[in-house]
Amino acid sequence: MKFRPRLNKNALLFGGAAAWGLLLISCVMVNRTVLQSPLIPGATFVGNKACTECHAEHVEGFADATHANVALGDAKLGSTGCEACHGPGSLHVKSGGTKATIVNAGAKPETCFQCHLDKRGEFSLANSHAVLAGKVSCNDCHDPHRGNAISGSGAALEAQNETCTKCHTAQKGPFIFGHNAMKEGCVACHSPHGSVNQKMLVARDANLCLRCHLQTTDRNGVILVSGSDHRTRLQNGTCWIAGCHEAVHGSNSSKSLRY
Ligand code: HEC
Ligand code: HEC
Ligand code: HEC
Ligand code: HEC
Ligand code: HEC
Ligand code: HEC
Ligand code: HEC
Repeated sequence: MKFRPRLNKNALLFGGAAAWGLLLISCVMVNRTVLQSPLIPGATFVGNKACTECHAEHVEGFADATHANVALGDAKLGSTGCEACHGPGSLHVKSGGTKATIVNAGAKPETCFQCHLDKRGEFSLANSHAVLAGKVSCNDCHDPHRGNAISGSGAALEAQNETCTKCHTAQKGPFIFGHNAMKEGCVACHSPHGSVNQKMLVARDANLCLRCHLQTTDRNGVILVSGSDHRTRLQNGTCWIAGCHEAVHGSNSSKSLRY
């Protein structure tokens, strides 16, 4: 499994411990006395195996899931990854599977914030996906049950763009004049959770584009971008204002990305 260095596992677990108290401490110290649920009163952990009988598909697919690595630390129970998100399952199993006895993680981003504390802040930024309002959910973009939780990481970047274009069909293309930046993924220009910048852009001005398009100044002080004179153009506003490159995602009428 590969995880990005910027996800600091220790920070994450200790952050989670503050919110989940006993549960996450049990990740660190293997201690059976901590198996008391903070979420479902009276329930205890039973391990993934106990879910197989009724949710075989979920359990089978889970083997290669990112979160299969998140265990609660009681060796006797085997893997307890399911309950890391859904809460302790003993009452749910005993009842034959009633909704009231298990956490519906999809409806509650809080489930994820318990460990990914920093994400709440990202979704509170002025321009963000409406996860806190319940209009978009973490699992619209992340599959908790199988494979890499970030779809299309690495080679299969297209799959990551598809995560976005299933809702944002206008950006999907194909366009007669495509913008090769799209091959770097939507996240080359957008913060997927939220940003201080409008349209969740990673930078709010020409710097968004100049990270890839070299700006040079020739002997006479002329500012060139991609070899053409941009002295007055750069003073007019962002690169994507009307009349310039407003069709940043791709164009059907101009190679210079205009409508
Ligand atoms: C004896 C069968 C059985 C077992 C064992 C079982 N479940 Fe369920 N589970 C069900 C049934 C039936 C439903 C559907 C309930 C409904 O729709 O009213 C369900 C629903 C769920 C839901 C959706 C709840 C919701 O609000 O929609 C989750 C999550 C879930 N189970 C997780 C688990 C986990 C985790 C385990 C193992 C700890 C587990 N289940 C073990 C039968 C079971
Ligand atoms: C990383 C958190 C996480 C883990 C770990 C996890 N789930 Fe889920 N589970 C979710 C979320 C989020 C949803 C809501 C999905 C949706 O609405 O599309 C969900 C939904 C479900 C449902 C309801 C039916 C469905 O698919 O929508 C069942 C049943 C379920 N999970 C069982 C399991 C079992 C069994 C395991 C362990 C093998 C497991 N889950 C592990 C987060 C998790
Ligand atoms: C019990 C704590 C816990 C919960 C609850 C949890 N996660 Fe995680 N998550 C982790 C840990 C730990 C990792 C890193 C796994 C590793 O490094 O082995 C991780 C990794 C991830 C990653 C991949 C990060 C990367 O860089 O590859 C995503 C995406 C993610 N989680 C989303 C979610 C979502 C969405 C939910 C809620 C449905 C959720 N998580 C619930 C602990 C948790
Ligand atoms: C609109 C789609 C979308 C939604 C909704 C979303 N994510 Fe993400 N998330 C992504 C993408 C895309 C990446 C990969 C970012 C990258 O490659 O730079 C990511 C990365 C992550 C990571 C790993 C990198 C990091 O920033 O730490 C975690 C953890 C994570 N998301 C958790 C969550 C949680 C928790 C939620 C819900 C509260 C959530 N995400 C909702 C699209 C989304
Ligand atoms: C489940 C559907 C869904 C998915 C998946 C999704 N989005 Fe969104 N997105 C929305 C909604 C709803 C809005 C708010 C719509 C609006 O205000 O027009 C939005 C808004 C945006 C905006 C800001 C638009 C504005 O007018 O401010 C950007 C940029 C964006 N999404 C990019 C992405 C990217 C990048 C991804 C993939 C990582 C993604 N979205 C995945 C539903 C989704
Ligand atoms: C080269 C940088 C770049 C890439 C790559 C990129 N975008 Fe954008 N996107 C922008 C800019 C700049 C804007 C703001 C345009 C404006 O305000 O007129 C924008 C605006 C948006 C909007 C708001 C649309 C509107 O009409 O307000 C959505 C939704 C969006 N992008 C989704 C995506 C999706 C989905 C992907 C990947 C398939 C993607 N973007 C890739 C630069 C990019
Ligand atoms: C992730 C890198 C990346 C980013 C960010 C990026 N581009 Fe591009 N862009 C490319 C690549 C690669 C090409 C194709 C090669 C070339 O023509 O330089 C291209 C081509 C273009 C072209 C077509 C040039 C021609 O004459 O064929 C325009 C116009 C353009 N980009 C504008 C923008 C604007 C405006 C932004 C900022 C909103 C932007 N680009 C951001 C990578 C990027």
